[in-house]
Amino acid sequence: MTKPIGAVVSGVALNEPLSNKVVDELHSALMEHQVLFFRNQPMDHESHERLGRYFGELAGHSGVGGIEGHPNVVKIHADADSKFVAGEDWHMDLSEDPEPPMGSILYLHTVPPVGGDTLFASMYAAYDALSPAMKAFIDPLTAVHDSNHIYRELFPDVDKKYPTNTHPLVRTHPVTKRKCLFFSKSKIIRINGLTKPEGEALRDFLAHHCENPNFQVRFRWEPHSIAFWDNRCTQHFATWDYFPETRSGYRVSVAGDKPY
Ligand code: SIN
Repeated sequence: MTKPIGAVVSGVALNEPLSNKVVDELHSALMEHQVLFFRNQPMDHESHERLGRYFGELAGHSGVGGIEGHPNVVKIHADADSKFVAGEDWHMDLSEDPEPPMGSILYLHTVPPVGGDTLFASMYAAYDALSPAMKAFIDPLTAVHDSNHIYRELFPDVDKKYPTNTHPLVRTHPVTKRKCLFFSKSKIIRINGLTKPEGEALRDFLAHHCENPNFQVRFRWEPHSIAFWDNRCTQHFATWDYFPETRSGYRVSVAGDKPY
């Protein structure tokens, strides 16, 4: 793990009902470390959904939808036939939604022998590392988050309009009250109040800034591992360096609030 982000949690079976005390401890650990990792947690869809519900209502996926019979469970899968994988760029899940998820719980049952790591970056650490002058400049700004450019390329024959929403570029976390960048590199298409070149330059600067390894943790998956991230203060990146091997599992997201 690293100082700014990430913790491995052991001694809990997430596929069993959890006591209020354990849920509170997990929630506190998530608030502190932003992403929690668990090993050896075989999980069926019902247990996965129950685990998510301990932390709030489940959130559907406005882009790809869920699996049959479980509308809030999203399949995450890549193999030798895949032309793309989900999340292979820095992003916050569904930041284009009016109320992006507070968190996501990803369970992988099948992983390649090597590769397929997920990288997580702390948006607290990224914000804290900016100069006072840059903080003062970006604090009042808002950005437009959109996923049409992503899904239209992936699913050109689907006649669907995906969400577009404006959110602050810097948000206050509703629980910790800490400020963080609300920055989703692959989703931000415009920064309001700036000219196009100014907005693009700021977006590119922040994207580069957020990729500083000092803000990151990198998770090496094993079969039946789980990652549970706070989507309000982290970005993540799914590497695809294992083609043609198979990497497979499911994700459940927990509903969030409107960033402010
Ligand atoms: C995602 O939720 O973006 C996918 C992450 C991953 O597959 O590691």
